[in-house]
Amino acid sequence: MPELKETSGFQYLKGTRFDRRTIQDRQRPLIAEVATFKHYPQARKVPLPRTWQLTEEHLSPLIQNRRSLRKYAQEPISLEHLAFLLWASQGVTGQAGRYLFRSTPSAGALYPVETYLNAHSVTGLPPGLYHFDVEHFALDRLTDQDQAEAVAHGCLDQGFMAQAPVVFLWTGVFRRAMHKYGDRGVRYILLDAGHICQNVMIAAEAVGCGGCAVAALYDSEINQLLQIDEEEESILYAASVGKKLLP
Ligand SMILES: Cc1cc2nc3c(=O)[nH]c(=O)nc-3n(C[C@H](O)[C@H](O)[C@H](O)COP(=O)(O)O)c2cc1C
Repeated sequence: MPELKETSGFQYLKGTRFDRRTIQDRQRPLIAEVATFKHYPQARKVPLPRTWQLTEEHLSPLIQNRRSLRKYAQEPISLEHLAFLLWASQGVTGQAGRYLFRSTPSAGALYPVETYLNAHSVTGLPPGLYHFDVEHFALDRLTDQDQAEAVAHGCLDQGFMAQAPVVFLWTGVFRRAMHKYGDRGVRYILLDAGHICQNVMIAAEAVGCGGCAVAALYDSEINQLLQIDEEEESILYAASVGKKLLP
């Protein structure tokens, strides 16, 4: 197995970065489109019930109502809600020997995804960039200043990211998964990020908030903002969260 930098997984991640200087010149891929729905015209259709009598009545409205939200109430979100979202993202929920299990699954329980956030408007939390210390369920304060504008700028200037009370930024620490799984580890890192983001979106819905997953970002700009070595760790995914506007 080659060293990290020589793996095709690493080269793939590097080769698919967005860069502000070259993004306009990027060619659309010459890959033919395919329909959104797959049909099996020969197969017998089994209609599914649209109502179900389950004892659970909490989860289904959260799944039903989740919608990408790009406009937020002026209200800040509370530290309590932020803590709940962080717990939902990667909080420790179990232990077996030296393994600490988390709220979202991870191949080999290696947890290659790190969570950072920009607090723009959180009651009881000074604005700035933070790192989520999963082990101690705490936030490490990284900057003294709100980085909402810089984060939005790095997210292809998507203005709503600057308005969101909180923006989560998820990075992958490549070696954590790739030392074991090699190139295939790249798949696992990306899958982990998806699980984490979805848990946050559902948890947000549970506390009257909403948000939007964002993967259109200038990788190196966000990496610089987080002061991480992008040869070892890089931004993968982001999400805004804020209170819903009252109807
Ligand atoms: C991987 C991924 C990347 C996305 N990136 C962006 C983005 O950069 N900007 C944005 O406004 N929405 C982004 N979205 C949100 C999608 O546009 C949205 O999920 C889609 O339109 C479906 O709408 P819904 O989330 O309300 O169901 C992204 C979603 C995913 C899953």
